[in-house]
Amino acid sequence: MSGEAGRGQGRVTIVEPPAPVLLEGFADAVRRGLGGERKSLPPRFFYDARGSELFERICDLPEYYVTRTETAILRAHGAEIVSPPPETLVELGSGSAEKTRLLLDPMLRDGREATYVPVDLSRSALVAAAEALATAFPGLSVRGHVADYAGAARVVRDERAGGRTTVLLLGSNVGNFDPAEARAFFRGLAAELRADDRLVVGFDMEKDLRVLEPAYDDAAGVTADFNRNVLARVNAELAGEFRLDRFRHVAFYDRAAGRIEMHLESDRDQEVPIAALGMRARLRKGERIHTENSYKFTRERIERLAADSGLRLDRTWTDGRGWFSEVRFARG
Ligand code: AVJ
Repeated sequence: MSGEAGRGQGRVTIVEPPAPVLLEGFADAVRRGLGGERKSLPPRFFYDARGSELFERICDLPEYYVTRTETAILRAHGAEIVSPPPETLVELGSGSAEKTRLLLDPMLRDGREATYVPVDLSRSALVAAAEALATAFPGLSVRGHVADYAGAARVVRDERAGGRTTVLLLGSNVGNFDPAEARAFFRGLAAELRADDRLVVGFDMEKDLRVLEPAYDDAAGVTADFNRNVLARVNAELAGEFRLDRFRHVAFYDRAAGRIEMHLESDRDQEVPIAALGMRARLRKGERIHTENSYKFTRERIERLAADSGLRLDRTWTDGRGWFSEVRFARG
């Protein structure tokens, strides 16, 4: 495997994938996303070191119920969710992997051993999580992959050992996929699952607007900073000249589409040089750069997604208010 670098005391390995596994790179995405009439940037570019840190702060905000609600479900039902215990736990978009402890803990009870395979875009978040978990759980080997979702099915294939594998996609990470992307993604994963394997997905459920919208537009402005961080990244990595204070954070729920949308709205007509790309981004006053969709789900949408992806619903766990669902799937 290329780019493999051991770390720590031999129980932690970080794997850098060969380039073709990755989705479109930052420079191409910026050229395409800011060069035309309708402007957008894919949300995966939020997560450099600073963006990953800001996202961790979002998770602690009073308005952002998502992490707290899912954590409560995992705390109450973690042991059932990983029962019978898998030998390999693959986590896509692992971030700080704090919630994962609630699954590793029951998995490793009675002196059992297991391999944890975190997959994340942020190398810094991946290394920190891998080392923290290897230290906290003596029975655990960690093989982290710096990769995006395009590489996910392949990581499952390469890392699965002889026994059971459970794949995790927690935290409503699934919400960033458009419906067609979600189907394609789950089909690819379903093809890698064997009869005893499971896929566990955290879905954020549709709920009152008065709860949904503040979660993406918090009073302290952390989500606004997170959103603008993608422009800071253009400045740092592509010699862009964005003035962050000239962009307003916009977030709203589109009920017909079933999703929160986030945008950055230009407060004036402006032309922003991006030297490394030899281009200027031209924005009119009030024009928006669409930076994220965060889909919310209903039971019907989850059932449809499973049916369309070759997956079977195995079990579901929810919180008392029905705000979030942890759904376990098996191969269809
Ligand atoms: C990481 C995609 C689950 O959609 O809630 C949080 C990202 N964006 N606040 C979400 C996010 C703004 C988050 N996900």
